[in-house]
Amino acid sequence: MNKEQLVESARFIMKNAYIPYSKFPVGATLLLKDGTVINGVNVENVSFGATNCAERTAIFTAIAQGYKKGDFEAIAVAGDTEDFLPPCSICRQVLAEFCSPEMPVYLTNRKKEIKELTLRELLPYAFTDLEM
Ligand code: THU
Repeated sequence: MNKEQLVESARFIMKNAYIPYSKFPVGATLLLKDGTVINGVNVENVSFGATNCAERTAIFTAIAQGYKKGDFEAIAVAGDTEDFLPPCSICRQVLAEFCSPEMPVYLTNRKKEIKELTLRELLPYAFTDLEM
């Protein structure tokens, strides 16, 4: 899957977001190194802090399916927003747990433009388990 398809997938899956409170859909599509594609959406809760973002839904689903650190090729994140929708800081930290700093993160916007960043650019000086 190329970056345009990945972004299109993230945009398409947004329709499954569970967003009764914010009405703010987010879709994320992860590409694994074996070519598998895993989607995530934001899943909200009446206890707002229990909400799970789209990116974490996708990563946690991949882990539940048996994928490991180093298996991740790229992620695309889509929102129905004017500007590019970047992952929140908690999702950046979760991405840093499992993905290489060089992994491409594709952001998109309503105009379907694509901004490509690395995880390192999104989360410089990340706290990692290197010293643990
Ligand atoms: N949200 C995501 O799913 N990903 C992000 O990176 C930003 C925020 C969700 C959480 C909540 O359901 C809604 O967007 C509004 O914050």
